[in-house]
Amino acid sequence: MVIGKPLFTAQQIQKRIKELADEITEDYMGKELLAIGILRGAFMFFSDIVRNINTPLEIDFLIASSYVKTESTGEVKIHADLREDIKDRNVLLIEDIVDTGLTLKYIQEMLLSRSPASLKTCAFLDKKPCRKVDVKLDYVGFQIPDEYVVGYGLDYENKFRNLPYIAIFKKSI
Ligand code: PRP
Repeated sequence: MVIGKPLFTAQQIQKRIKELADEITEDYMGKELLAIGILRGAFMFFSDIVRNINTPLEIDFLIASSYVKTESTGEVKIHADLREDIKDRNVLLIEDIVDTGLTLKYIQEMLLSRSPASLKTCAFLDKKPCRKVDVKLDYVGFQIPDEYVVGYGLDYENKFRNLPYIAIFKKSI
């Protein structure tokens, strides 16, 4: 297993997060926000971005999965649902990566059926070349090519999530 050079360094990540958070703060000015992190991958991005959003905010989490090793199974499992009732609330979903789009599509539809006042999505990485279904993204950290990446919350078999940067992962050279 090989971890390549950082695709995005910790410094580049923090700079981009500040820009995104400023945009979010401005868009939600005067509104109360419920930020929902999609675990496990989004834990690091979530904690960094909410620290930089400057508007009244509550948090909640969903635990979802659809990957086995490096492949999407296409089947989304919800391991733990929200604790909050989202009806009539301004919800901001925070996701680490959108690849096929299947996970996010499933979660967006599930949450829309609960009648929030608004639902927006902030994704740290957008791997557009791999999209299988159309999903609406309101805030995106970085676009990435069709490469398997790890670090900053993203994993291979639940490893490498603790790296403070994003790197390309190869099973062998
Ligand atoms: C990853 C990632 C996204 C999803 C994106 O989750 O965190 O939720 O895959 O892929 P998609 O657009 O092809 O659906 P994973 O199932 O690996 O679980 P994890 O969050 O625990 O890493």
